[in-house]
Amino acid sequence: MSNGEQKSEKLLSLAHFKSAAIKCAVELGIPTAIKRCGRTATISDLIKEISLVPAKAPYLSRLLRFLAFFGLFEEDEEEFASAKSKTVYKLTPTSRLLVQEADNDSTCDMSHMLLLFTRPSTTVSTFFDVERWIRDPTSTKTVFEAAHASMADSRFTMEVVIKEAGGYFKGLKTLTDVGGGHGAATAAIVATFPDMQCTVMDLQQVVSSAPECGGTVKFVVGNMFESIPPADVVLLKLVLHSWDDASCIKILKCCKEAIPPTGGKVFNINTVLGHRGETSKHVTEVQLLLDLYMMRGHGFERDERQWKTIFLEVGFANYTVIPLQDPLAMIVLHPSPLVVEMTVKVTGTGGAKEDSFLSTDEAEAAP
Ligand SMILES: C[S@@+](CC[C@H](N)C(=O)[O-])C[C@H]1O[C@@H](n2cnc3c(N)ncnc32)[C@H](O)[C@@H]1O
Repeated sequence: MSNGEQKSEKLLSLAHFKSAAIKCAVELGIPTAIKRCGRTATISDLIKEISLVPAKAPYLSRLLRFLAFFGLFEEDEEEFASAKSKTVYKLTPTSRLLVQEADNDSTCDMSHMLLLFTRPSTTVSTFFDVERWIRDPTSTKTVFEAAHASMADSRFTMEVVIKEAGGYFKGLKTLTDVGGGHGAATAAIVATFPDMQCTVMDLQQVVSSAPECGGTVKFVVGNMFESIPPADVVLLKLVLHSWDDASCIKILKCCKEAIPPTGGKVFNINTVLGHRGETSKHVTEVQLLLDLYMMRGHGFERDERQWKTIFLEVGFANYTVIPLQDPLAMIVLHPSPLVVEMTVKVTGTGGAKEDSFLSTDEAEAAP
């Protein structure tokens, strides 16, 4: 074994230390403490701000040195009145998303999502036991049978969706958010489009614990495999990736029945693996990690060819994929043949071409 191979073996086997270190920093409240210290903090500032005993300073320094290496914090040397330079830590665009400010609605606090992904008793332990599940030929049930009612990143994702694909929401009168949990995505939509009448549909146990939203948002109990309240648009955010193809086809057939045959749309917000849009190596890495994460249930992330097979089976006429500045994309499904209404970042090439089923750029390219 060469030196290089040995090094990369170590890097791979220690990779989970990265998640553990980020979890530790968030639980200690370091991003929030740096912000409170005026966005620049020394180790002694942090020790005071988060009430640690001074003897822990060397350990905190090592943790921050490690995280600064990965860009979670910026590390700098600053001259102080004592003429001695000290290391200071600053927030970066990534750690700004981990500032926990319950009283400040304008920040996007992604710390809950991070803590969900790094929770030892569920997410992490499940992953370190995947081998047993893969070997077991009879295992169909997973420890994650219960669906998660709300995703802490909904607001952040919807801000990106509205920025990148807001044109698709303009002029809509009604929208049904299927499997909408506690309505975080819908709340972000009505904050920008206050006249839209929105229905959030979910299971009894989720709706019964939903917070009061008021305004134009109403919650209904329903089963997406049976029927969906009619609307101009049906939104499915992070729903279909939890289901196998046959289930996705059933859900999408109900969605298609709920929208007008002409002009109606389904917005499917999900990963499109390896999508050519703004896909960079970094985004692909996140998408592949999310796909691994989906192994904890029955779900998986799909590439465009896999999505297209499902859409074709349901009987949609066209689709448009809008890549987001996120590992996700918004796929707009049209029930009737395409009337090209917008030319936003339109993409779509995967798989063999079907004459009657084209993604928008195929349709535009067609003679
Ligand atoms: C992964 S969560 C996504 C929640 C939300 N759309 C978001 O992006 O945060 C999936 C949601 O689908 C709901 N769900 C599961 N089965 C359902 C069904 N048969 N009918 C309606 N909703 C269902 C779950 O209760 C859960 O809230």
